Amino acid sequence: MKTTGGSTEAKRRAGEHAATAVEDGMVVGLGTGSTAAHAIRAIGAAVDDGLDVVGVPTSFQSRQLAIEEGVPVVDLDEVGGVDLAIDGADQIADGQLIKGGGAAHAREKIVDAAADRFLVVADPSKQVESLDHAVPVEVLPAARPVVERRLRELGGESSLRTAERKDGPVVTDNGNVVLDCEFGTIDAPGTLAERLATIPGIVEHGLFVDLADEVHVGTAEDVTVERL
Ligand code: A5P
Repeated sequence: MKTTGGSTEAKRRAGEHAATAVEDGMVVGLGTGSTAAHAIRAIGAAVDDGLDVVGVPTSFQSRQLAIEEGVPVVDLDEVGGVDLAIDGADQIADGQLIKGGGAAHAREKIVDAAADRFLVVADPSKQVESLDHAVPVEVLPAARPVVERRLRELGGESSLRTAERKDGPVVTDNGNVVLDCEFGTIDAPGTLAERLATIPGIVEHGLFVDLADEVHVGTAEDVTVERL
């Protein structure tokens, strides 16, 4: 599983802590990334001990891990809703998130937004005063040049995300490409999110505004929970 840095212990604490919120009978959104993976493993251990839940994966990777850990998986269109989602983040400021470091933000946003309760899990390196991480933007391949132009008009400098062990771009689970777009410090994430959402050709962007209900941050010895 890809990792974006930060302490493994802190990520494990955050993931395992959030997994304790999972109750019998729940439909659980299974996030993507190294922190959410700890939650999936913990849910798998609880299923071994008799917990009765189904998971809705947000990526190929989280689906594979859930299957390996014994968590029954279903697609979103097979369930009436999602009770609880647990997912990581690349940056968190005032409860607003940037996600998509693993190029899974389109499915993540659908599942996280569908959840009655969305818990973010992270290590302290993800918490910042203001969002300033590049915003991942999933784009239909043929729309890339026009989207790049529109992003420049919004003040963004975008670069095509390239694969590490394949020539060419990262291709998402949905068959699209990802532009990582630098906007500098993002003072008004809600406004930027709305503008990005109006650009034809963008499938989804990585700004998660007013979606999180709780932020669970693992520290050296403990977990802090911020309720939003
Ligand atoms: C996946 O596309 C991302 O949104 C991840 O949730 C995010 O990159 C956090 O990953 P880590 O938990 O590995 O830091």
